[in-house]
Amino acid sequence: MGSIRLDAVEKWFGNLQVIKGIDLEINDGEFVIFVGPSGCGKSTLLRMIAGLEETSRGKILLDENDVTDRVPSERGLSMVFQSYALYPHMSVRENVGFGLKTAGAPKSEIDEKVSHAAEILELDAYLDRKPKALSGGQRQRVAIGRAIVREPKGFLFDEPLSNLDAALRVQMRFEIAKLHDKLKTTMIYVTHDQVEAMTLADKIVVLKDGLIMQVGSPRELYEKPANLFVAQFIGSPKMNVMPCSANGKKFVLPEHGSAAHGLTGDTANLNQLGVRPEHITLGDKKGAHCSGIVEVAEYLGSDTFLYINAGALGTIVVRTNDVGAEIKGQEVYLHFNQDRLYFFGSDEQVIT
Ligand SMILES: Nc1ncnc2c1ncn2[C@@H]1O[C@H](COP(=O)(O)OP(=O)(O)OP(=O)(O)O)[C@@H](O)[C@H]1O
Ligand SMILES: [Mg+2]
Repeated sequence: MGSIRLDAVEKWFGNLQVIKGIDLEINDGEFVIFVGPSGCGKSTLLRMIAGLEETSRGKILLDENDVTDRVPSERGLSMVFQSYALYPHMSVRENVGFGLKTAGAPKSEIDEKVSHAAEILELDAYLDRKPKALSGGQRQRVAIGRAIVREPKGFLFDEPLSNLDAALRVQMRFEIAKLHDKLKTTMIYVTHDQVEAMTLADKIVVLKDGLIMQVGSPRELYEKPANLFVAQFIGSPKMNVMPCSANGKKFVLPEHGSAAHGLTGDTANLNQLGVRPEHITLGDKKGAHCSGIVEVAEYLGSDTFLYINAGALGTIVVRTNDVGAEIKGQEVYLHFNQDRLYFFGSDEQVIT
């Protein structure tokens, strides 16, 4: 079992508060991702769960047992870091089994667990090599192997792929997804890469300045962001946000007039409209929400990203696949998908 519960958890470094009261439930077997900008407290929170960092206030419960004051070895969690220091003079086999050996496990048990981990991670062929004869991805798998043999209740990963090149990151992302499928063990994974978050997580926790902005499945966060921060953090290229006001049931864009929309809810403080680049199409002047000049067209093969100067609305990014780079400099008319619009109040919360 490996459920984890955080109850009003806070972290203070002297009189600097970096974790500002976090409540969170993680179910046994769940793959949870902590995501957020640099310095928001992801690593600190993970280290508090591991027991590597003291918790200033609040409680951490593992399987409903209060472990707040327990040392890391009593928590039964394994942490995998970004910089995975392997012992250079030891073989892969010895590196993976080292923790068990120092804990005094019998050789037969070590051999069995190391073989099992090697099989899961497809490291069988490399067991007798030294780390220097491995690729970056293979080394990272050895580091994960060291965590697996301890049979933890949960794995804690702190940006495990950030030292790898782009192609290897994609491959290792896939390996980690497979690992979770095979082991079905609770995993908490820290990243600031939103693609990693979207592709791996059952549940994403978006953090900002030591506070949770929203918790939900990748789809919930993409489709139903609670606030401007989450709306712009999840999705790439990020959601376009432009000034907007309400006129009855219509919304009004400065310089571009109003558009009919079944606006409901409290629109008194409506001041911004959000629309994702993939929910805008180019079309006729008639019925367009706004127009602008294409300043940059990034042709990527499968998609083209257009950066459109739309005057008072700022730069609007459109994701399309039916135009090429020749559109640069042209005036275009933008049609927003009416079902995929987000309205934000002056408090930056979504108006529903
Ligand atoms: N030992 C410490 N003493 C004082 N402040 C600290 C200490 N450790 C971390 N902090 C501060 O706490 C905040 C959160 O740091 P943390 O390392 O958790 O951020 P992060 O979200 O993991 O960022 P990154 O994405 O850059 O790794 C930062 O402002 C950092 O400067
Ligand atoms: Mg960090």
